[in-house]
Order: sequence, then C-alpha cells, then structure tokens
Amino acid sequence: MQLSVPGRATATAVVAAVSLLAGGSLADAAPAAGPTVAAAPDISVTAVKAHLTQLQSIATANGGNRAHGRAGYKASLDYVKAKLDAAGFTTTIQQFTSSGRVGYNLIADWPGGDTNKVLMAGSHLDSVTSGAGINDNGSGSAAILETALAVSRANFQPAKHLRFAWWGAEELGLVGSRYYVNSLSTANRSRISGYLNFDMIGSPNPGYFVYDDDPAIEKTFKTYFTGLGVPTEIETEGDGRSDHAPFKNAGVPVGGLFSGADYVKTAAQAAKWGGTSGRAFDRCYHSSCDTTANINDTALDRNSDAIAYAVWELSA
Ligand code: TRP
Ligand code: CA
Ligand code: ZN
Repeated sequence: MQLSVPGRATATAVVAAVSLLAGGSLADAAPAAGPTVAAAPDISVTAVKAHLTQLQSIATANGGNRAHGRAGYKASLDYVKAKLDAAGFTTTIQQFTSSGRVGYNLIADWPGGDTNKVLMAGSHLDSVTSGAGINDNGSGSAAILETALAVSRANFQPAKHLRFAWWGAEELGLVGSRYYVNSLSTANRSRISGYLNFDMIGSPNPGYFVYDDDPAIEKTFKTYFTGLGVPTEIETEGDGRSDHAPFKNAGVPVGGLFSGADYVKTAAQAAKWGGTSGRAFDRCYHSSCDTTANINDTALDRNSDAIAYAVWELSA
C-alpha cells in the first residue's frame, strides 16, 4: 500500500494530503500548486517476492548460493537481464576479474531523458558463499528490478536519464561497483546526478534506516516514510559498507535505504517499529538461513514503494 503524494510536494502539502486521506477521500482535493510530476506507482510486494522466489530457486539449483564466480551468480544475472530486455531496457554486461574468478555487473538504461543528468539506482546481486542471500541482497535487487519494470509499464519519461545497476562481487569488498566507477571517464562520472543504493531492505526484524548523505536524497526518502507514519533513523551500521561508497568517493551525491544486518534492535527501536528487542535485525545475515523465509513482507513493501517514490521524484 502506498500513500498518494503529489509530486514535488512540500512537507506542508504532504501533511495536507494525509489529512485528506484521513477524511476518507482525495476525490475533491484541489490540484497541487506548482509543477507536478507523475505519481509514483505502488510497487507490488507480491511481484518483488516472486523475483525472490526465483533467486532462491537459482541458489538451490546451484549449490545453495549466488556468490561471485559461481554458477548461481551468472544465473541470477541472466534472470534479471531477461526481464529488463523484455521490458525495453538497453542492458550491458560489464565483466571483471576478482580473486581469480570472472564477475559481472549488469547495467540497464531506460531510453530517453537528459544523459547529462543521470539518476542511478543500484543493488548488489551477489550473495556470500554460505547461503542464498535473499535478504542480502536479493531484496534490494528484486525491488529495483520491479521498480525498473514499473518504469517500463508506466512508459515513464522523466527529464533525467534513468540507469539501474546490479553489482557483482560486493561481498568481496565492493569490487563490481568500484570497477564501474573507475571505468567511467571524468565526464561521464560528472553526468551522474545521484546514486541510490539498496542493500538489505527486507530484514526479518526490521528497522527503517535512511542513509545520511546527500540532503536532497535523504529528504526524499524521509518525506515518503513520514507520509506513511513510519519513523526512520539515520543508517549507522557501517558507513561505506556498501556500493554507494565508490560513488560517494568520486563526488556523486548518494543515498539509500537499509533495514539492518547483524546489529541488535534496542528496546526503543522495538517500541517504535515493532519486532523483537535484543535480537539482530537480521539473525541470518551471511548465513545459510538467509532464504525466502528471512524476509519481512511489510519492510520489503514499504522500502520498495519508497524506492519507486524516490526514482520518480528525483528524476523529474
Ligand atoms: N553491505 C553489507 C553486506 O552486503 C551489509 C551492510 C552492513 C550494509 N552494513 C550496512 C549495507 C550499511 C548498507 C548500509 O554484507
Ligand atoms: Ca507496495
Ligand atoms: Zn552481505
């Protein structure tokens, strides 16, 4: 479920929309003043979970993981690429070598928009060798895949150029994303106006963490969660521990969402978010139990909807 928030809404406008909803109807709402962008779609959590089921099957058929250099990684990449190709994206596989094994990034460009202003969203697609990696990071990978498919279904034509990325070998030290950023010319790097990262967004005992990086990106995510009435906290579980770091180091504005890994949920956090205090956000982090059973559907749904909201808002 997602709140319908007018594009380019100010904080005040969001509050107004919330009270209208509380009043039971938006039907007679006055048109929002000023420029508006097309409303972001409600991403179907059922569709996101269907991608996770496929990634689980891929792991199960390939020795239980989707790790760098293993058959399950390439099969995951082929699955995502086929969906994007069928939806009209221009896909590119970028190959690299790490630890003596071949790895791949998948880049998907949505035709159109100003290629001097590129908005990127990315997630690492590799798992660790010990498990299927469904929360880490099937969750982010499936959510940005479904967001990309929603772009296609809506035939969304934003002012900026949209690019989605699935990174290889994150678990070996951000290898794929680093390779991508290093491979860009200075000019092409400067054309990226923002990079949004999604690594673990369906944690079973979830928190709602927003990266405290670029202020405009951070504000966009916070606006969305405020509209839902869900409190957020700043992400502190290891700044620079995911694929946004190479972009940030290259001077690209970055942001993202995170539902928690091996840190333990406090009593205060359980009071505001529910779940279990004194227990990790994800007890199966980097373990064999990171399967499709290791997902909180509500967190996956809210974060997926927040991704679509941010992609729509920030590409206008
Ligand atoms: N990137 C880590 C992994 O894949 C997970 C993680 C830990 C993380 N801390 C984070 C992701 C903070 C984003 C933000 O194993
Ligand atoms: Ca949804
Ligand atoms: Zn991991």
